[in-house]
Amino acid sequence: MIKSVSETTAAVKEAAAYIKTRIEDGQIPKICIVLGSGLAPLADECIDPISISYADIPGFPVSTVPGHAGKLLIGTLEGKRVFMMSGRFHSYEGYDTSLCSLYVRVMYVLGVRTIYLTNAAGGIADGMEPSDLMIVTDHLSFFCDSPLRGPNLDEFGERFPDQSHVYDPEYISILESIGKQEGIRLHKGVYAYSKGPQYETPSEIKALKILGAGAVGMSTVPEAIIASHCGMRIAAVSCISNLAAGISDKALSHKEVMDNAAKSSSDSCKLAKLFIKAI
Ligand code: HPA
Repeated sequence: MIKSVSETTAAVKEAAAYIKTRIEDGQIPKICIVLGSGLAPLADECIDPISISYADIPGFPVSTVPGHAGKLLIGTLEGKRVFMMSGRFHSYEGYDTSLCSLYVRVMYVLGVRTIYLTNAAGGIADGMEPSDLMIVTDHLSFFCDSPLRGPNLDEFGERFPDQSHVYDPEYISILESIGKQEGIRLHKGVYAYSKGPQYETPSEIKALKILGAGAVGMSTVPEAIIASHCGMRIAAVSCISNLAAGISDKALSHKEVMDNAAKSSSDSCKLAKLFIKAI
């Protein structure tokens, strides 16, 4: 069923209005950090956080993935006010991509203009090792139902948005220089969206490699599309939690993904903090 513009806009505004009631005037952040696997410990570094359970926010879905907490934090990091999404929504959980990314518009209505997206991903490009990080320079969204499908919400952006620079070039250089300065193993590459929840087959990974993918994962793209539609500046970092199917002989498992994401977390947190400090 096609939702009307007013229904969708009202849902976004209702969620934003509720969150606003929980924050003091003048304390609303302009930055949102999405804590994918590996970045979860950053939540503990958020100073004086207000914590709102997703279940309490009108219209928010509930995150069903183990390891994804399901709460919104509002606090201070590196002296800057930030929202932290601790837990996100995936289409493999059964949600439409528009529902997975609804929170991005809620953030926009609240005044957020920079989003820092993180995720766990399977490494495809040559030279990657588990627990490396990859700065996302672009994405392949062919396998992602567009979250912009349906009536266009003109107050957020235009019907046919340009996608030439989804990931902010200046943010990419900031991340690169932090990596160099801190000796963090950082790659740059294209993130390919995969619907999941099953991991890819080796043939699918071969095809993605030919298409130019550096890593593959099941999130981020719907959110990046919605964020770019409303003109937010986007940075995204993937934690290479495993080598993608067929790149190594090893069978893939969620446990390996979580273990390697945890191993990379000190580098992921350092990179995120220095980035927030730099912008
Ligand atoms: N494929 C898709 N999603 C993932 C992977 C992968 O290999 N690793 C972590 N998320």
